[in-house]
Order: sequence, then structure tokens, then C-alpha cells
Amino acid sequence: MTATLKAIGIGKRFGALAVLEGIDFDLSSSAAIGIVGPNGAGKSTLMAVLSGALVPSAGRIEMDGRDITELGAAERSGLGVMRTHQIPKPFLGLTVLENVLVGATHAGAAQGEAAYALALGALDTAGMRRLANRPAESLGLLDRKRLELARALATRPKILLLDEIGGGLTDAEAEELVQMIKGLRAEGIGIVWIEHIVHLLMQVVERLICVDAGRIIADGSPAAVMAHPDVVRAYMGGV
Ligand SMILES: Nc1ncnc2c1ncn2[C@@H]1O[C@H](COP(=O)(O)OP(=O)(O)O)[C@@H](O)[C@H]1O
Ligand SMILES: [Mg+2]
Repeated sequence: MTATLKAIGIGKRFGALAVLEGIDFDLSSSAAIGIVGPNGAGKSTLMAVLSGALVPSAGRIEMDGRDITELGAAERSGLGVMRTHQIPKPFLGLTVLENVLVGATHAGAAQGEAAYALALGALDTAGMRRLANRPAESLGLLDRKRLELARALATRPKILLLDEIGGGLTDAEAEELVQMIKGLRAEGIGIVWIEHIVHLLMQVVERLICVDAGRIIADGSPAAVMAHPDVVRAYMGGV
């Protein structure tokens, strides 16, 4: 069963500030799209709009042809759209395992023993099993990012939205992350991955989108997008 997620003419304003304008793209499960762009381009805002954390000011979001623009994050995660946060948001008073169990039991993903098994499996996939009983508040930033991922995986997403999870990793850890995301994709999970470390993205995604100042300035094969003059210009700081 292939899930599809579509953004049509998405705009987002914060007061007078237009952060996104005219964003169109679509994604199927078993596909992977990378999103790049300078800081402040609107990438995380796009993820918030796709996940239902923010309501867009214009346009609509469709999943499997159904208009889900009005659905909040909890309802969308129930349908299989789940994100990680660039700034991790664990429940600090809970252990790592308890945090992931929240994901596993969320929106009826699983209950009881099945939820436990799902949570432990997600911890394994994210390389967090050995930290299962640690309080989330004791984790450093990298492990908090892994916890974000484990908690998202435990909801059994069809479409997984990843916001900068690759920063600060050693080469070996980055390679593990790439293999893990390839594995998720092979399981049929659709991936939207925002990442500054382009060479990691290039190993996983077949399509890259570059966002600059709230608009898509290039969309296509990773090599073509990175060579696009507007993308080169955006990365060189507008010269
Ligand atoms: N809740 C908000 N209220 C006002 N401005 C915001 C809010 N969230 C993001 N912005 C602004 O929107 C722009 C895009 O931010 P963001 O989506 O985080 O960019 P990116 O993830 O590409 O670095 C920035 O100028 C940021 O300051
Ligand atoms: Mg961001």
C-alpha cells in the first residue's frame, strides 16, 4: 500500500512576514526527498505545516488524495505522517523507553505487550536500546535527536519527516544513519529529510528540493539541484 503526501500552493505567514510561498511537491511512500536551503529559508516551517503543527496561510495538504489541511499533528500522525523536531522535544521527566512508549501507544499504534515490542524495536533501530532506562533529561543533544527518531518510528509512520538529524555525528555514526534511513525506505516508509550535510542526503534521496526565502528554487535530481546556478548563489550568500 503506497501512501502519498502532497503539498499544493503552500504559503505561511507570521504576521507580515511571509515565510513560505507557493510550495508544491508530492511524495510517495518508498520514495525519499531531501530538502536543503540556507538557514531561515523556511525548511522547518514547511515541516511543521506538513506534520500539522502549523496551519498554512494558503494552499492545502493532501494524503492519499484526501484533504488533511485542517487536521492537527495528532490526527496526522494517526494517519501515518510523523516528524522529528530540529530542536528535540522529549518528555524530560520520563525515561527514554517511556518516551518511546508514548509514540508506540499514540493514536492507537499499539497497546500492552505489542506497544512494548514496538518501542524496543524503535530503540534498536535508532541505536538507543542501551539508554532505555536513562531519564530523557540526562541525554545530550545527539542522543535527544536519536530519541526523537525512535519516538517517531514507534508510531509506525508511513511518511517520516526528518529535520536535521545528521549534524554533529562522527563519520561512522553518519554512515550508520544513512544505512538506517535507507532501511526505512526499503520497508516502504516515505522520507522527507532536511539536512545541511548534503553528501549524506545524496546517498539516500533520489530527489532534492532547495528552498530559499520561502520558495522552491530548484527541484530535481540531487546532482542537478546542487549544480543549479540559483542554488549555488543561495549557498554563497546572495553574491
Ligand atoms: N513561530 C514563528 N513566528 C515568527 N517567525 C517565525 C516563526 N517560526 C519561524 N519563523 C521565521 O521564519 C523563517 C524561517 O524559519 P525556519 O522555518 O525555522 O527556517 P529553516 O528551518 O530553513 O532554517 C525565519 O525567518 C524564522 O525567524
Ligand atoms: Mg530548520
